[in-house]
Amino acid sequence: MNLIDVLNWRYAAKRMTGDIIPKSDLHQILEAIRLAPSSYGLQPFSVTMVESRDKLNEIYEKASPQPVLKQCSHLLIFKARTRIDSELVEGYLEDMAKARNATEEQVEGTRKRIGSIQNNPSFNRLSWSMRQAYIALGYGTFAAAQLGIDSTPMEGFDVDALNNLLGLDVEKERAAVMLALGYRSEDEDHSIKYAKVRRSPEKMFEII
Ligand SMILES: Cc1cc2nc3c(=O)[nH]c(=O)nc-3n(C[C@H](O)[C@H](O)[C@H](O)COP(=O)(O)O)c2cc1C
Repeated sequence: MNLIDVLNWRYAAKRMTGDIIPKSDLHQILEAIRLAPSSYGLQPFSVTMVESRDKLNEIYEKASPQPVLKQCSHLLIFKARTRIDSELVEGYLEDMAKARNATEEQVEGTRKRIGSIQNNPSFNRLSWSMRQAYIALGYGTFAAAQLGIDSTPMEGFDVDALNNLLGLDVEKERAAVMLALGYRSEDEDHSIKYAKVRRSPEKMFEII
């Protein structure tokens, strides 16, 4: 399928079959998420992958009664950082120094650039982290579709309940958005037959 066919094929599945995604496909989806761009390259989020049926049932019961949670193969929970702390920044600088064989001077220059957001008190850190997580969510969704795997992005959940269930330190990170991965149930998912609703190119794009 070409790129646009893939994007027309994908939709947010409401019912899945429960079939399990092969490890190699799962790996590719996770790599697409890891390789997504982020502001300053800081990647201020992480992902919990849920494969335990018990955990999925618990999430369904306590945080989000959406059937797809019981029928997906895996659930990815994107967690956004609430702080741009030294753990994040120094961790990035260490990775950068290693990957690029960077000099102390280069590392210091990057530390200074990052400092401009780190030291800005009016900068909404959680909102910024969440935006970075959503870009990666898009990458994961698209990667899955390319592999013929369905996905459902999900914001419809009780954030406090999910934070609790994952045992998150909310001073540090919070559940931002989820991505259920699996295979559409052709028999049970009535939304398969719904045509896509999208704004027209004229409404969406302006050329100046
Ligand atoms: C950030 C985000 C959150 C969403 N949350 C839910 C959700 O909680 N449950 C659900 O069934 N669909 C959810 N959706 C799916 C959207 O309703 C769907 O993408 C939209 O209606 C467009 O339809 P399509 O993706 O099937 O083409 C979400 C989508 C996005 C991008």
